[in-house]
Amino acid sequence: GDVAVLVPAAGAGVRLGPGAPKALRPLAGEPLLVHAVRRIAAAASVHTIVVAAPAAEVDAVRDLLAPVAPVTVVPGGAERQASVAAALAAVPAGPEIILVHDAARALTPPELVESVAAAVRSGHDAVIPVLPVVDTIKEVGPGEVVLGTVDRSALRAVQTPQGFRRAVLTAAHEAAGDPLTDDAGLVEKQGVPVVCVPGSEHALKVTRPFDLALAEHLLAGGA
Ligand code: CTP
Ligand code: MG
Repeated sequence: GDVAVLVPAAGAGVRLGPGAPKALRPLAGEPLLVHAVRRIAAAASVHTIVVAAPAAEVDAVRDLLAPVAPVTVVPGGAERQASVAAALAAVPAGPEIILVHDAARALTPPELVESVAAAVRSGHDAVIPVLPVVDTIKEVGPGEVVLGTVDRSALRAVQTPQGFRRAVLTAAHEAAGDPLTDDAGLVEKQGVPVVCVPGSEHALKVTRPFDLALAEHLLAGGA
């Protein structure tokens, strides 16, 4: 394998409601992070996995993942971007393709990991999986008054794993300013083209309680 996958998993999961850090919350009896890492490790190109865990849970996460796949676990940071940077710093020499994949996208199929990696391997510096936006999107102003309707045909909803040539991701993180919610955003600021490939509905991000219920249902159906 020529691919390292960074797994930011250090978030609290505020929108999921009170409880353990989100990556450790159970989905059908196993933590979200276990589901995510199992699927990453099932992708044949993956050589290295680095997880950024909540600082207080690093040892617990190491023990949890030891039976699942060989992983390196590092403490994450206060923002997702800092967690990714911490994981990136722990990647050994070797892999020249780096994917960044949210632990919260626990049911992402290994095939999506492979398709993003393949697109980088084929020569793209930065690759993101996307889905079309299905809802009509309005821009609103003060008082929730509609200012206008956005042209949906030019919009995409962005998922992970996002894939990068190693030097491109490293340079983008070295130059990073204010925290962004994805890594492609940092690369865009460097003026590097970012290319879209088809995402997967199974790569949904577990964010709110409804998403957890949906993920349970998908898993029961064989996802
Ligand atoms: N993440 C991280 N470090 C942080 C914040 C987020 O590693 N300081 C990770 C999360 O663990 C998750 C991914 O980034 O796998 C996407 O973030 P999000 O869905 O926002 O998760 P949380 O930040 O945990 O959720 P919330 O924003 O509701 O608190
Ligand atoms: Mg968050």
